[in-house]
Amino acid sequence: MPARYEELHQRSLADPAGFWGEAAKDIDWIRPWDVVLDDSRAPLYRWFAGGELNTCWNAIDRHVEGGRADQPAIIYDSPVTGTKRILTYRDFRDQVALFAGALRDRGVVKGDRVLVYMPMVPEALVAMLACARLGAVHSVVFGGFAPHELATRINDAQPKVIVSASCGIEPGRVVKYKPMLDSAIEQATHKPESCLILQRPQEQASLIDGRDHDWEAAVAATTPADCVPVAATDPLYILYTSGTTGQPKGVVRDNGGHAVALKWTMEHFYGVKPGEVFWAASDVGWVVGHSYIVYAPLLHGCTTVIYEGKPVGTPDAGAFWRMISEYRIQTLFTAPTAFRAIKRDDPNALLLKNYDVSCLRALFLAGERSDPDTLHWAEDHLKVPVIDHWWQTETGWPIAGNPLGLGLFPVKYGSTCKPLPGWDVRILGADGHEVKRGDIGAIVCKLPLPPGTLATLWNAEDRFRKSYLSEFSGYYQTADAGFVDADGYVYVMARTDDIINVAGHRLSTGGMEEVLAGHPDVAECAVIGVADQLKGQVPLGFVVLKAGVTRPTEVIVREIVAKVRDEIGPVASFKQAIVVDRLPKTRSGKILRGTMQKIADAEPWKMPATIDDPMILEEIGDALRTIGYAVDKPAD
Ligand code: COA
Ligand code: AMP
Repeated sequence: MPARYEELHQRSLADPAGFWGEAAKDIDWIRPWDVVLDDSRAPLYRWFAGGELNTCWNAIDRHVEGGRADQPAIIYDSPVTGTKRILTYRDFRDQVALFAGALRDRGVVKGDRVLVYMPMVPEALVAMLACARLGAVHSVVFGGFAPHELATRINDAQPKVIVSASCGIEPGRVVKYKPMLDSAIEQATHKPESCLILQRPQEQASLIDGRDHDWEAAVAATTPADCVPVAATDPLYILYTSGTTGQPKGVVRDNGGHAVALKWTMEHFYGVKPGEVFWAASDVGWVVGHSYIVYAPLLHGCTTVIYEGKPVGTPDAGAFWRMISEYRIQTLFTAPTAFRAIKRDDPNALLLKNYDVSCLRALFLAGERSDPDTLHWAEDHLKVPVIDHWWQTETGWPIAGNPLGLGLFPVKYGSTCKPLPGWDVRILGADGHEVKRGDIGAIVCKLPLPPGTLATLWNAEDRFRKSYLSEFSGYYQTADAGFVDADGYVYVMARTDDIINVAGHRLSTGGMEEVLAGHPDVAECAVIGVADQLKGQVPLGFVVLKAGVTRPTEVIVREIVAKVRDEIGPVASFKQAIVVDRLPKTRSGKILRGTMQKIADAEPWKMPATIDDPMILEEIGDALRTIGYAVDKPAD
């Protein structure tokens, strides 16, 4: 079977236009493209230029017309509210068309931005698809971000309308979204014309006259809107992701290439057939949610699952098994951290015995490095292939993985297997030349990237070129380091920038440093990611206080922890910081964050040749030991 992979992979690189032109036949087009791959502005490429389609039509209406009207499109299961709901493709089409009508009534037309700040409820998908229906550009912001982060995104995307809800539910607490939204709008310089608010039974939000409108009332007062033709190259959405500073990057995804690539991955990579139940246990606020809760399963005519709960504690570590057996889920996709949480609470998977999970065909893991222990644990207990695959918000779909749909390769633990068709993965040294097989270097992908990957950064083409295209001419720079072995397997080892990965969530240490530096007592600071048995990594702050500050350090630490939670949000998981006298730097003044991280994780490290004062590293080690780091940890 892997022979099929070799043939497709080679063809996709030798003749990308032919390969993706053929894949595009699986999508309904209103007008065919003039050219599959427009390279007239290389290194900026556009897919299916001249073509017209509507993504919402392809994700919903076409299935209603094509015989799936009564098939569930969405299964909503919310252990935190005790609610379950199923929407057929017909129900979903009707709700999306009406909500699109409500957006249209508020002046939303093709190209307008609509910001979506929603918990995990079906209405989040209704809002996204309603935007796609009108050709409006959605920008979904994850609910765990604080008002300041939301304000940054409002200013950048300049939405005409914001769609939100009265609250989200985290175990044990109701998270009031509306006051956070009000605060964000107050902080933002751009003001939306209107907000549409879903009132949930757990919390009644107060609405601001003239600006805010109740979801139900807006929908009751409108008529359905039709799908609007858009250019294949028009933006479908903007999704902000962490860069190296506090200013997030707005990844822009187009309509045509996105629909073609995502639909293609469902059969060829995930090995899924239309009509099956596909569950990506993530959140619509992340790229995994955009691609594999929302668009790919719907484009493929599958049933997708919205789960408003956690892998553990709602009510126990059997939550995922209950979901799989209750809804006969064939494919599960989540982050390794979810399985680490389940393994921690139920190490022998005793709860699994209460459920029939024989329907499950495969488990896919992504978002962070999969530790072999967790992979083995999942394989041993679930007895299905467990597939680690590597991708990024920017790429929108996997770069490398074991292609279940094309035939599985033997598993090598620690590797994310082979580059998918469309991806020409190379490893470059600092001099820009390819390194020997097996040597570590910067992982890059030869241009053009396949369809469905980022078209540009919103309002920031220069930043797009600088961040991804300029260091290695002719390649997309992933900012991951790793190697490819003699069999062509890809190993992703670490980020080459200051981004960390906390419970599968991508966070910028630079962004956190900006918050710490804003504390009146802080002279200098650094944030690093340290190893964590559950979340993979968690942030840890170091602060140097201004001369003359005499307030107790515990108080200052408490204040900066609260400040990060207030300004970035609980999702940052920033819970610890230490006060130190000085930070280790190179002679040119660069803080040695990499060395600090190795010391904290008790990994082997070398004294950097350019260090200014080696003594400081000893001081850092001593300070770390006071809070339990920089010591060998017992095995799990
Ligand atoms: N709205 C508001 N707050 C949120 C939130 C949301 N949508 N999502 C998370 N938070 C809060 C959490 O309540 C937590 O707050 P706390 O510090 O008061 O406890 C904080 O943000 C950190 O969240 P998280 O890192 O998710 O930790 P957790 O302890 O709540 O759960 C896991 C840990 C492993 C169970 C959880 O991360 C998980 O289920 N991960 C699954 C994988 C996943 O979703 N990956 C995304 C990419 S694929
Ligand atoms: P995000 O944009 O949030 O999806 O994060 C992307 C980053 O997460 C990548 O650049 C990697 O550093 C990391 N990542 C994602 N999936 C994997 C994986 N399977 N193995 C190792 N790292 C991964």
